[in-house]
Amino acid sequence: MPAKIIDGVKVAAGIRVECKARVKALAADHGVTPGLAVIVVGNDPASRVYIRNKMRACADVGIRSFQHEFPVDVDQNIVLDLIARLNLDTDVHGILVQLPLPAHFNIRQILAEISADKDVDGFHLYNVGGLVIGDTVFPPCTPYGVVKLLEHEGISVEGKNVVVVGASNIVGKPMALMLMEREATVCICHAKTRDLAQFTILADILVVAAGQPNLIRPEMVRTGAVVIDVGINRLPDGKLVGDVDFEGVKTKASYITPVPGGVGPMTVTMLLVNTILSAERRALGHTRFPERTAGAA
Ligand code: GUN
Repeated sequence: MPAKIIDGVKVAAGIRVECKARVKALAADHGVTPGLAVIVVGNDPASRVYIRNKMRACADVGIRSFQHEFPVDVDQNIVLDLIARLNLDTDVHGILVQLPLPAHFNIRQILAEISADKDVDGFHLYNVGGLVIGDTVFPPCTPYGVVKLLEHEGISVEGKNVVVVGASNIVGKPMALMLMEREATVCICHAKTRDLAQFTILADILVVAAGQPNLIRPEMVRTGAVVIDVGINRLPDGKLVGDVDFEGVKTKASYITPVPGGVGPMTVTMLLVNTILSAERRALGHTRFPERTAGAA
């Protein structure tokens, strides 16, 4: 039987309905409108598309967005100064610096400048540390979206063999941590992994974020596996595809996400969720560890 195709657009739309209700409640109860500042440097076409989608999604649920654009050769200190101002701006609850940045930027320094309380990407070192020990402040948006898709389909990860292909700071590593936190048995593969198929074939759940079209072929997938394709690749003919041979793999998998229309809409939606969460925390006077009342080890 062919796989069930997981409709990320539909799941994201359901979460956005909840977002709208939370935004309304913030206005009614606290007179607060969540605000997201987005910083973009240079003219990377893919980044421009992502930014446009993020701003539109904000408007759709009632989040204010503030876009700050810089030319590709801007001095890093100018961006650091802007971040310092946004950290103090009470209209701003989330700050996002679109990646990648031009080569002359020190990404670590930029991400470290963002207040951990407004780091809705979850990329600040403090928040990465929180994720590692299970005290997550903001779950990084793409892996958070994957977790939400699995939850929506009623797919438990506890005790499952999950193979993550790709070890980036944005997707692969936080994905693995979030799955470990949910008691999956996690294996991370990456560009230097020898004989990728010997790992992928063991996966009950396969999450692929490698940025390589057709990397995952049907013979690499166990019959009945759940396949989540995080890849977004533009082919020379303009077609958008993931990392998985969708047509081939869907005949073997039990569930599969399409590209486009799978993980992509969830990433943007989880950014909205994190921005609203940040505004709710501030409205309630909380900063870090807001959901913890007792001192966890
Ligand atoms: N570039 C690609 N994905 C992301 C993301 O999730 N956040 C940011 N800031 N930049 C990205």
